[in-house]
Amino acid sequence: MCGIVAYIGEKQALPILLKGLYRLEYRGYDSAGLAFLNPGLQLYKTKGKVADLETYIEGKNTSGTIGIAHTRWATHGEPNDINAHPHFSQSGKLAIIHNGIIENYAVLKEELKQRGYLFKSETDTEVLVHLIEDIMHNEKTELGEAVRIALNQVIGAYAIVIMSENDPDTLVAARKGSPLVVGIGDGEFYLASDATPIVEYTKDVVYLNDEEIAILSRKQSLTIKTIKNQIKTPYVQKLELSLTAIEKGGFEHFMLKEIYEQPRSIRDSMRGRLNAKEGRVSLGGIIDYETKMKNARRIIIIACGTSWHAGLVGEYLFEELARIPVEVEYASEFRYRNPVISEEDVVIAISQSGETADTLAAIELAKSKGATIIGICNVVGSSIPRATHAGSYTHAGPEIGVASTKAFTAQVTILTLMALRIAYMKGSIEKSRFHQIINELESIPEKVEETLKVDPEIKELARMFTFARNFLYLGRGYNFPVALEGALKLKEISYIHAEGYPAAEMKHGPIALIDREMPVVVIATNRGPYDKVISNIQEVKARNGKIIAVVTKGDIKVKELADYIIEIPETEEMLVPLLATIPLQLLSYHIAVMRDCNVDQPRNLAKSVTVE
Ligand code: AGP
Repeated sequence: MCGIVAYIGEKQALPILLKGLYRLEYRGYDSAGLAFLNPGLQLYKTKGKVADLETYIEGKNTSGTIGIAHTRWATHGEPNDINAHPHFSQSGKLAIIHNGIIENYAVLKEELKQRGYLFKSETDTEVLVHLIEDIMHNEKTELGEAVRIALNQVIGAYAIVIMSENDPDTLVAARKGSPLVVGIGDGEFYLASDATPIVEYTKDVVYLNDEEIAILSRKQSLTIKTIKNQIKTPYVQKLELSLTAIEKGGFEHFMLKEIYEQPRSIRDSMRGRLNAKEGRVSLGGIIDYETKMKNARRIIIIACGTSWHAGLVGEYLFEELARIPVEVEYASEFRYRNPVISEEDVVIAISQSGETADTLAAIELAKSKGATIIGICNVVGSSIPRATHAGSYTHAGPEIGVASTKAFTAQVTILTLMALRIAYMKGSIEKSRFHQIINELESIPEKVEETLKVDPEIKELARMFTFARNFLYLGRGYNFPVALEGALKLKEISYIHAEGYPAAEMKHGPIALIDREMPVVVIATNRGPYDKVISNIQEVKARNGKIIAVVTKGDIKVKELADYIIEIPETEEMLVPLLATIPLQLLSYHIAVMRDCNVDQPRNLAKSVTVE
């Protein structure tokens, strides 16, 4: 996790670094720091958020045209001033920022201690900066080469940037497993964990690959080499990101903005891929692998968190439409389970960030066993799309709120398109039914817009349940993953304990929790196992639970039983998750705001989980 930003050029670095840190704060926000050369190394770091750092540096000497900055999500060592980045080398002449984990840091630390190095922090990062200095000293080598030698001794993941007091014209950066983007300006370079701190200065970027080192010098053009010392030609790409996409645009929080963006993000995810008039679904990114998918013995979906919930919807879709057996796996379990995988299996890896360490490791495992890997990711140029054989981007646009909202509905949209495409090729769906579904799918963005109109009602509802201590979410069929996602959203941003369950499972245990204090959110739309869900509602009712039901517009039966009703437009059963999720996102949002929680940056979380 952690956010990295760095600058070298003619401009003052401070405003670029601070603005960049604010943009990257979603990646970690327990401490932050900056270092400049002017001409000596100036270091400022503090526990807390970027705003705390900004206050802390007021009135201090922060001038300089070269600098590095970091916002942290703690892995080794608690969040405090000392463990915050940057870290200095023993001589105080090198400063480093790091995102990732050095797995063999304990061994390296011991060796360095024996050579007389003293450690101020508990971090794995400090080991790296001492090691680099040690190599510079022993091998009489310059910084770039010392970094290369050091990285050959390191096991783990890293994105690093290093600055040296002895070489004020150079920044050295490297990556493995954690993202790093170089922005190329006019006589200047930018570096960041993603493109958001760079976008307003230049559109020319280079995404570093694993085990690549970049030398950014005022005196020459960008040099990239591998840790095995192979020179690489930088592949310069044009950024498509816009500034408005990463700003709040008048909303109080990014999360609310992103919830409201869903008609657009779903439409963008379908653009060019769905043409209901012509009766066509096609996904350019998987075209060469469609036959492989069609003939798959089995599909395994791997993901974490919200993306895993989208995967569960995918399971229902692929099994119903394409008649292919599907397993949905937590990437973190899959990677350590010695799973049985063959060349006839297709793995679909889903990730908003494209950087989730567990998902990446699960991909590598499945690849090593010969499976074909298809990615569904949101962040263009991130690690997962590069590790997969093929895939489709979700085009949801940058998701900055730590709680995933529009990424989920975009992932479900892509899974729906994929399942429809494969079903069509396989002939496992009647043509007329195919047309019926794609016509309905095309109307979903409008129906999402209509669904969003329930917002004021939900705000009222949130007022009534602001101080509830527990919540239960129930759903069946396609609405079971919706229940899981609703519960996850509530717990991550409001810190209220919430459980999602398949409605019928309730009687096998959770029913014991129900009393008049327990709000139970039931997704009870009018298709599929509707009557069965009504029986489950009755079971809750009989135990005095408070029922909040998400129902199809015009519903009568559930209305009679539920305490509160949220209506959503009528749609195909398999498309209900695209609508039913929205009121649950809004409910979590309003409850969290009313509880005065930090909605966009909930405690202990980070947007992109690049550690195990
Ligand atoms: C969602 O609200 C969470 N913050 C989290 O569960 C997230 O979905 C998970 O960490 C997976 O991330 P990814 O989609 O970027 O791989």
